[in-house]
Amino acid sequence: MSDALNYLLKARPEAMKAYFTFLKKSDNHLDTRTRDLISVITKVAVQTEGGFRQYLTRALRNGASPNEVIDALMMAFPVLGLAKIVWATEILLEMDIPEFRPENLDATPEWHDIGSLEEVPREQAGYYEIDGRHLFTYRKGDDLKVYDSRCPHQVTDIPHLSLEGRTLTCPKHEWAFDIESGECTAKGNRPLRQFEHKIENGRVLAYW
Ligand code: FES
Repeated sequence: MSDALNYLLKARPEAMKAYFTFLKKSDNHLDTRTRDLISVITKVAVQTEGGFRQYLTRALRNGASPNEVIDALMMAFPVLGLAKIVWATEILLEMDIPEFRPENLDATPEWHDIGSLEEVPREQAGYYEIDGRHLFTYRKGDDLKVYDSRCPHQVTDIPHLSLEGRTLTCPKHEWAFDIESGECTAKGNRPLRQFEHKIENGRVLAYW
């Protein structure tokens, strides 16, 4: 929640609680994805960048596809107009989310070769660029984790330099993650996204 809403909640608790109750009760008949897409469109309508990034991330996390997000934007053309759709598209381009790249819009998930298991560092993070996506790995004993480098808050591509010991800190709003477990340990409340993986003929393969 923004600092402004937190302030209003303290200054006018009754009114603001009623407002939040209204929001909670007003969408009981919509499925999560539809609700998320409508929220994305409302943020474009009022052009709040932080809100747009946040609701977009939530929509993707809850299963909306990039094509659905683009359809929602295009369908809202009569109320948004081209300028706001271009505004949102520029933010999408800046975010550079791999799934939104034109060549990936209709791609189906598949296995990607990350490299030889032998070369995956032990008890420290590995960092890879594979097929246009950055990944972190963490290997301890027989346990191997493969993480998306995208922050679960607003999809920022967390750089390798943000790693200090076992702590990975997103430069945007400083959510911190334990690279061994993927759990968020400061500021935020969601873990790093993990990719399914398997070992085949000594190679590590990840699925996205
Ligand atoms: S994008 Fe906000 S903490 Fe990473």
